[in-house]
Formats: sequence, structure tokens, C-alpha cells
Amino acid sequence: MSQDYQHKAPIGIFDSGYGGLTILSEIRKALPQYDYIYLGDNARAPYGTRSFEIVYRFTLEAVQYLFDQGCQLVILACNTASAKALRTIQQNDLPLIDPHRRVLGVIRPTVEILNNVTRNGQIGLLGTPGTINSQSYTAEVAKLYPQYTVYGQACPMWVPLIENKETDNAGTDFFVKKYIDELMAQNALIDTVILGCTHYPLLHSLIRKHLPQHIEILSQGTLVAESLKDYLQRHPEMEQRCSRNGRCTFLTTESSEKFTETATLFLQDTITARQIELG
Ligand code: DGL
Repeated sequence: MSQDYQHKAPIGIFDSGYGGLTILSEIRKALPQYDYIYLGDNARAPYGTRSFEIVYRFTLEAVQYLFDQGCQLVILACNTASAKALRTIQQNDLPLIDPHRRVLGVIRPTVEILNNVTRNGQIGLLGTPGTINSQSYTAEVAKLYPQYTVYGQACPMWVPLIENKETDNAGTDFFVKKYIDELMAQNALIDTVILGCTHYPLLHSLIRKHLPQHIEILSQGTLVAESLKDYLQRHPEMEQRCSRNGRCTFLTTESSEKFTETATLFLQDTITARQIELG
């Protein structure tokens, strides 16, 4: 692995599959000047129902791969990976691999802005079973806003429905309503709902339809993009190590044709991907 900090490299963006593309597209809008390598571990997705150990191992392999490509900064554009792997990677692995590189997640930037949005501190969280069971949002909210309460609702059917391009049918409508009803049954006073999975912006209009209209819905793309912009301003030593040609490379562990076709749904743009192997 290169230890040359004069060397400039793309920012790495990792997700278990396609969901991180919703984050990438907002990051590219906010910071078009940088280069990016997007890596989707599509062959092993979804991560949302996998154990802590497996999500951690897969995520570390992906981070290591992106480091091997020269990336100095990697964003885990996946809530499940951020919830289950980020802290261990930051605390245990990075000091051994390379203390000058950074790995950031999507949970902190989402939680940070809650005080600008909620009026009563009753926060709903929609996510994969992995994210909800990890209690990572609850812990992060408790650190920043101990007076708030988080009500988590796992939505295990949503990622498979999105990845199978079933967003426009009655079955999906049923499962969106089901989980929203279960969330609101936990506390009818919830006034802010976090889409705590990077896939869920693709269900935004259905979620909006079934949630009471006064409830604010937080999508993470713009929040993470703004937070990254702020991070790079506060860390010029990292900013100087990010290359600037406005290019983006797409890597997937599944077939590149399949990735290219489905990525269009998430990006409203045509891209070309390359298949790689992890592990
Ligand atoms: N995109 C992932 C997240 O934000 C979920 C997809 C998966 O289950 O792999 O949690």
C-alpha cells in the first residue's frame, strides 16, 4: 500500500450495493471537482440482515480495497456498514493500517442536524434490521441530544423490493404502509422521520404518501454531502490529498452489466462499471 501522502487520489465511496449511489450523486453535486471511486459489494448484498461480524469483515475488506487503490478518505455510504463496522474500523483497524487515512460514515451527519428539524424530539428511524438492532442511531442521538427519543422500525422488505425494481407496484405500497403504520404505532407524536438506509430515497414518494403530512422526512444524501464539504474545509491536509479531475469510477463485485443497468435507476445517468473481487 502506498504511504506517499503527496500522492493525490479519489475519495472512496462504499455501499453494500446500489443505495450509496443516492449519496454519491448528492456528493458529486456539492463537490463536483473531486474524483470518486464508488464500490458496491453487490455480490454479497444485502448486508441489512447479516450479523455484526460478517458486515464488519466485508466492510473492512472493501475499505482495504479502496485504500489499495490509493484512496485517503473513504465514506461508508451505507447505514448498515456505518452502524456495524465504522467504529471498530476507526478505533482498531485504522491505527494499524494507516493512521493518516480516514473512514467516515453516514450516521453522525444525519443525527447532527436533528435539532434544526424536530420540534418535540420524537424521532422515527426507518432502516434495515441490522441498523435498527445495532442501536447505533439511539447511541449517537443520546450523545448529542439526550432529551430526544428514537423509535426504530426495521423495514426488511424494502431493499429487496427496490433492488428488484418493484417500487411502482401494489405489493410495495402494501409494505411501505405496513412499516410506516408500525412506526407510528410506537408513538403518534413522532415529528421527524430519518430514512436510515441509503436505498430508501427511492421510496420517498410512497413514504410521503403514507406518513402524516406534518412529519419531516430526512434523506441523507444532501446531509452527508454538506458534512463532507465541511470536513474537507476543516481538514486541508486531507483535502490536499484528494485528486481533482471531476471523474468517477464505478466498481462492483457482481456482474458489471447488471450494475450498469440498475445504477441508472439510482443516478438518472448512464455509467459504466468494472467488476472486481473482494476477500
Ligand atoms: N444501503 C444499505 C444501508 O444504508 C442497506 C442495503 C443492504 O441491506 O445491504 O443500510
